[in-house]
Amino acid sequence: MNEQFAKRRQEVMQMMGGGVAIIPTASERVRSRDVLYPFRASSDFYYLTHFNEPEAVAVLVPGREHGEFIMFCRERDPDKEIWDGRRAGLEGVCEYYGADDAFPITDIDEIVPGLLENREKVFYSMGANDEFDSRLMTWVNEVRSKARTGITAPAEILDLGHILHEMRLVKRCEEKALIQKACKISARAHRQAMKVCKPGMKEYEIEAEFQYIFRKKGSEFPAYPPIVATGENACVLHYIENRAELKDGDMLLIDAGCEIDGYAADISRSFPVNGKFSAEQRALYEIVLAAQQAAMDTIKPGTTWDMPHKAAVRVITEGLIEHGLLQGDVDELVGNEAYQRFYMHKTGHWLGLDVHDVGDYKVNDNWRELECGMIMTVEPGLYITAGAEDVDERWWNIGIRIEDDVAVTKNGYEVLSIDAPKQIDDIEHLMKR
Ligand code: GLY
Ligand code: MN
Ligand code: MN
Repeated sequence: MNEQFAKRRQEVMQMMGGGVAIIPTASERVRSRDVLYPFRASSDFYYLTHFNEPEAVAVLVPGREHGEFIMFCRERDPDKEIWDGRRAGLEGVCEYYGADDAFPITDIDEIVPGLLENREKVFYSMGANDEFDSRLMTWVNEVRSKARTGITAPAEILDLGHILHEMRLVKRCEEKALIQKACKISARAHRQAMKVCKPGMKEYEIEAEFQYIFRKKGSEFPAYPPIVATGENACVLHYIENRAELKDGDMLLIDAGCEIDGYAADISRSFPVNGKFSAEQRALYEIVLAAQQAAMDTIKPGTTWDMPHKAAVRVITEGLIEHGLLQGDVDELVGNEAYQRFYMHKTGHWLGLDVHDVGDYKVNDNWRELECGMIMTVEPGLYITAGAEDVDERWWNIGIRIEDDVAVTKNGYEVLSIDAPKQIDDIEHLMKR
């Protein structure tokens, strides 16, 4: 396990071509008075260290004689560990996390300026943490103040993300395996939701099935707050109140995925609360399902990022015309984005340590080409709100999103979330039981 992380650090250092990289983990946040939110490391830090304690900073110094990977972290403290849990300590980060050298986090202000002396550039992700940004400037200024002694300060602060996020975008086998595992657990929860769902339940009762299965199967957290949205709530894209009652005749949209060792699944399914699609629900569902398939059919190395979305909006527009929800010529309606009334988001995003993962979507102003190893979501939807102008009432309050997690392979794609049913017959069959 450690080797994968050592390899990633080596790769980053090669691309840095000298300089120093400084990567702080996330800050702890107060939830209420002296109670903190559960801690989660920052994704960049975790990607390079696999270390999950708060108050830690990784520093990479290519070519440093006494070791290139330095970790600042909390020291062992028997009294504190009795209250707040175990710590790796300085020895632990060297022994278990592969650090070459470790220092107490409380000493960072004294040590980092020395590491910056006579280094041309610093790699750092500016803007994520104001307090840390200004500390870095203080350190750089401290080195600048020594100019008369012949010491030079870094002349450039470069965005570490430029290097790191390109690496994070193309997943290694072990990363894909973690996303696959997160997908399997999440799909199981989606199946369970279909099995237990019935009119009269509350949205939070369905959410509880997800929380239970996620934890039971070893997930630390949901990858994002689960969306369990029935009726009109399904037309609110990121609805997370999850308090309403499920009504006979309404649709239910669930967007929920768990996190496994930091990696996210992001899966949406939509189905009728009573287990039987009405004619209108079926018609719209079939459009979204066909749009998703059309989008997926474009996925292979060399396809540009915009192609799945383009394929999806064409199928959606054709379907809306067929059912009288849009009137006019397909090309024209696609051209003027008339579908946006009912389909207002994009067809997907990168997926990884962050649910909306890092990585540029355009390169030199052109949509990026897909490569083997990239992992993305494919998630078209249709949302018909109550009162939608010129739309017959029978279509109102139907919100549908079908979202799968897809890995680009050598010749095409692989659906990692395949275990979550989405064919109408399969859903109705599962819900009947
Ligand atoms: N769960 C948020 C999204 O689908 O992008
Ligand atoms: Mn998504
Ligand atoms: Mn989602």
